[in-house]
Amino acid sequence: MRDFLRRLPKAELHLHIEGSLEPELMFSLAERNGIALPYASVEEVRQAYDFTDLQSFLDLYYQGMSVLRTADDFHDLAMDYFRRASAEGVVHVEMHFDPQAHLARGVELPVVMEGLSLARRRAQRELGMSTALIMAFLRDRPAEEAMEVMERAAPYWEMLDAVGLDSAEQGNPPAKFVEVFERARELGIPRVAHAGEEGPPAYIREALDLLDVCRIDHGVRCLEDPALVARLRDEGVVLTVCPLSNVRLRVVDRMADHPLPQLLEAGLRLTLNSDDPAYFGGGMLANFEACHEAFGWSREIFIQLAGTAIESAFMSDERRLALHRELARVP
Ligand code: ADE
Ligand code: ZN
Repeated sequence: MRDFLRRLPKAELHLHIEGSLEPELMFSLAERNGIALPYASVEEVRQAYDFTDLQSFLDLYYQGMSVLRTADDFHDLAMDYFRRASAEGVVHVEMHFDPQAHLARGVELPVVMEGLSLARRRAQRELGMSTALIMAFLRDRPAEEAMEVMERAAPYWEMLDAVGLDSAEQGNPPAKFVEVFERARELGIPRVAHAGEEGPPAYIREALDLLDVCRIDHGVRCLEDPALVARLRDEGVVLTVCPLSNVRLRVVDRMADHPLPQLLEAGLRLTLNSDDPAYFGGGMLANFEACHEAFGWSREIFIQLAGTAIESAFMSDERRLALHRELARVP
């Protein structure tokens, strides 16, 4: 099964590129930039990754990204991830990035965009990997700041495949970001949002009704609201589910308790994703394998999930067709 899951052409729709920063690269970038880390070794970093909830993770996630300062750093971060993902059979990556977290440290948008753009072109050329870019707003910061970033991103609007909404969910409902998502809609930029990870099912409804999103990131708490589940099914809304993330952030206790089988049984359109692979113990392949181990899913189910990801990805019709063909021929 492991070999089959590796061969499966996988599209990853929910990845935070800053969350792909492995401790080894964190140390080498810290050294390159003369930044002191509060850890003595790579092992010590990994030991610190013992999270109790989303906030306990976010604290280390924002601290970790302090080593990213130059365009080269963002390029190296993304290429490091693209190479690892490619070796796991990932053929398409949609990366969220958090401009506000960088602006707050004095790292301007052009620096981030230059590094990520260079890496995206290289991934296409050297790995045959397609990529997409999702500019995420930090929901625990003021909506006015998100709007400012939206406008500052004007030179890059054409390069954005979508805008997203992430960071601490509880107490920061989608309603807070109506204006900025309306601005994105006016500009013709598609929208996605994290909802129903730690937050209530009502936030999933708000994301659909007020932000007009085309996908929900996580969304696992929808099961608490049967009418919402029926709506998600009827409207064919795709959930980008991140099983290992949910275990590590204690959304669920163990993989065996993960609601993926119920979500699938309910007829929802699902994809499997890694979220923040450097922090949660594995990339796409590890997430697929964890599902096989916990639920004993057949090849057909994995093919269905991989197919849904290709269907709902931000990619050209030509690329989509090529990947569907590749999926149909997987040995
Ligand atoms: N930012 C990075 N990873 C995240 C997650 N799992 N939820 C919310 N915000 C995030
Ligand atoms: Zn996420």
